[in-house]
Amino acid sequence: MALPKGRILKAIIPLMTHTGMAPPPECLGGGSRKLRFPTQDPTIDVVQVRSFDVATFVASGGAQIGICGADVLAEFDYPEIYTPIDLRTGGCRISVAQAEHLPHSPEEWRRWSEVRVATKYPGITRRFFATRGINAVIVHLHGAIELAPILGLSRLIVDLVDTGSTLRANGLKEVETIAYVTSRVIINRTALKTQPERIEAILSRFRQALTTFSSTTPLQEAQG
Ligand code: PRP
Repeated sequence: MALPKGRILKAIIPLMTHTGMAPPPECLGGGSRKLRFPTQDPTIDVVQVRSFDVATFVASGGAQIGICGADVLAEFDYPEIYTPIDLRTGGCRISVAQAEHLPHSPEEWRRWSEVRVATKYPGITRRFFATRGINAVIVHLHGAIELAPILGLSRLIVDLVDTGSTLRANGLKEVETIAYVTSRVIINRTALKTQPERIEAILSRFRQALTTFSSTTPLQEAQG
């Protein structure tokens, strides 16, 4: 099973404990250089990778199961991935943001000589602006996207917004919401075909844990 580093992992660990497939604390702590860990279930190991790479590991069959955000799934749109369960945690959104002192005028985007957008989501960004008839110029970054408008790389950014504090701390404001995002359980389609009983049993454990977890734990706590 491929799990993402960072905030999604923190949010899902209580749920993972209910599934009986939680990795050990050293996987969470960040102090270990190991990348593969046993879980509570001796038949299942976890690999810990970047959230974008969870989808790639599962699509390629390196991992049979994974958990990642709907943002990553939308970005890659891998046909090899089946997405059966919404874990309803990690709730955030993908939004367009810009400097807070500038007026927001999407109808003017078309009149700009070019619409430059910094993002770690080139696919989602291109598609969003294309629906507005705009051929956006993408500045592809992998983190600290909020620096782009401050340092003149682009006027707009497309990024994840959760609390909004990163935008505020960098003098930016959210101007359009592209999509709402939650964490999903994902499955490699070939694994589902070749080991249907095993995969279905694992999915049942997620569904069962979700029912127990949702009825005993407020969503806010689940989101950490
Ligand atoms: C994400 C995103 C924003 C921040 C938004 O980054 O790219 O920078 O979280 O969260 P907020 O609205 O609660 O401030 P993340 O921390 O996942 O790190 P990254 O930039 O390395 O992707």
